[in-house]
Amino acid sequence: MVRQTKQTSVTVKQVQLHQYDGDILTLGLFEGSKRVPKEYAYLDKVIGGAIREVLRLGDFKGRANETTILYCPGRVVCRRVLLVGLGKKDKIRPAVLRQAAGTAARSANKLGASRLGLAMHEIAKSKIDIEAAGQVLAEGAVVGCYKYKDYLSDANGNKEAVAMRVSIIEPNAAAALKLNRGRKTGTILGQGQNLARAVANKPGNEINPPSLGREAQKTARQCGLKCRVFNDRQLAEMGMNAILAVGGGSANKPRLIMLEHKGRATRGKTGAGPDVVVVGKAITFDSGGISIKPSAKMEDMKFDKAGGCAVLGIMAAVARLKLPRHIVGLIPAAENLPSQTSYRPGDIIRTYNGKTVEVQNTDAEGRLILSDALAYAAKMKPRAIIDMATLTGACVVALGEHNAGLFGNNEALKKKIEKAAGVSGEPVWAMPSGSEYLEQMKSKIADLKNIGDRKGGSCTAAAFLSEFVGDVPWAHIDIAAVADTDTEKSWRGIGATGFGVRLVVEFMRMG
Ligand code: BES
Ligand code: ZN
Ligand code: ZN
Repeated sequence: MVRQTKQTSVTVKQVQLHQYDGDILTLGLFEGSKRVPKEYAYLDKVIGGAIREVLRLGDFKGRANETTILYCPGRVVCRRVLLVGLGKKDKIRPAVLRQAAGTAARSANKLGASRLGLAMHEIAKSKIDIEAAGQVLAEGAVVGCYKYKDYLSDANGNKEAVAMRVSIIEPNAAAALKLNRGRKTGTILGQGQNLARAVANKPGNEINPPSLGREAQKTARQCGLKCRVFNDRQLAEMGMNAILAVGGGSANKPRLIMLEHKGRATRGKTGAGPDVVVVGKAITFDSGGISIKPSAKMEDMKFDKAGGCAVLGIMAAVARLKLPRHIVGLIPAAENLPSQTSYRPGDIIRTYNGKTVEVQNTDAEGRLILSDALAYAAKMKPRAIIDMATLTGACVVALGEHNAGLFGNNEALKKKIEKAAGVSGEPVWAMPSGSEYLEQMKSKIADLKNIGDRKGGSCTAAAFLSEFVGDVPWAHIDIAAVADTDTEKSWRGIGATGFGVRLVVEFMRMG
């Protein structure tokens, strides 16, 4: 019954539109086009003027992600033409193209098609770089095709077990070459994002800290990464007492997963620390522990490992892209359950860097496992640390599901992350933190406590984390609101979003 989702492939095909022999040919069109663009004119003639007619009747307006399907009986090799709106010409951006490709991929999937053509000749009229277009089209298609269906039987709508073959259609040789360069990058990024989604979507009875460790080792083997998984005994020897405390209540013992990519330019270097350490919270299920959560929506707490899953996707992508950098991924993994062996409110933990923390709420566990992992990361003396975590409900309240919260101790680093977010289309919003917020986290009987008061919950959580990075430039991305969704969009399905994979890889690609 368990079925693996096969991967989507993307290629660039240098053919004329009417020669494409797939199941569906997608044509991107700007909003308000009254006439058939000249690039699509010959195809339209071959299919008997169907495009001209639909534009004339105004049934298709070209609004972003609007779709209309046209059937072409017997006239061309491809029997279906799918029109996808690109919105207003002056508003066209790579993000619009990415979504259009995702919308086309999802429409094709629903029809059971397995060969999808994408023609976006309209972009020639825009300022979008052709290579960038190839990248976002591949990203959109790969991400759009993904659906979590590991446990769906055929009778319940799992007919499409086929892998989608996507072709970007471009008759011009020079343009096809550029599209292909971007296509390679975009496919890897999309697959990295889907890997993060695939693991994050798995339920708590399948993914726990040890099985997440095995998942990381499998990815490392496939992509050529170094991987080390520290078990609970090793964590005890190292002094990772916060990770051990949080994971203490579960029979599935905690792990610290370390992945390493040493790109070519960095292999000879000795002594120098990594360029970036990316840290991701992986609570494989967060019940709250002894400070137990209410039952409503508790099932969504399987997504509390999304930060760690993003790190997995990022590391897979940087290895496949062969980025010339030294990058380390760290995934502290624990399951937060109430039991006889759980940590309790009132406990005091001596963390990896020696700072002590009074536990006042066992549901504020993310910052605890991160404290050990961040201190471990800082010890490597990297040029930057970026962490991603489904850390606070307060961030969900503050920003809603359209922005992740961005915190940190270094303005230049935050600026660069904002820039990468602009490229990847995963928006972040800069939030305050600092010494005033840190005051709220001081304990009377230990160096810190793990909750503040109700005020500024995501800012005080970030202030807590800042105590464990020393003076290393550090950014924290609170993905609590964006890591998963139950709102279906035309360009992507529900469940884990893989937020942060493209963002952090784009950050690393910026040099
Ligand atoms: N994993 C949660 C944060 C969360 C909440 C993520 C909602 C996604 C959706 C985290 O471990 C948590 O429970 N945080 C508490 C902290 C509080 C006890 C200070 C919270 O936000 O309520
Ligand atoms: Zn919690
Ligand atoms: Zn949590």
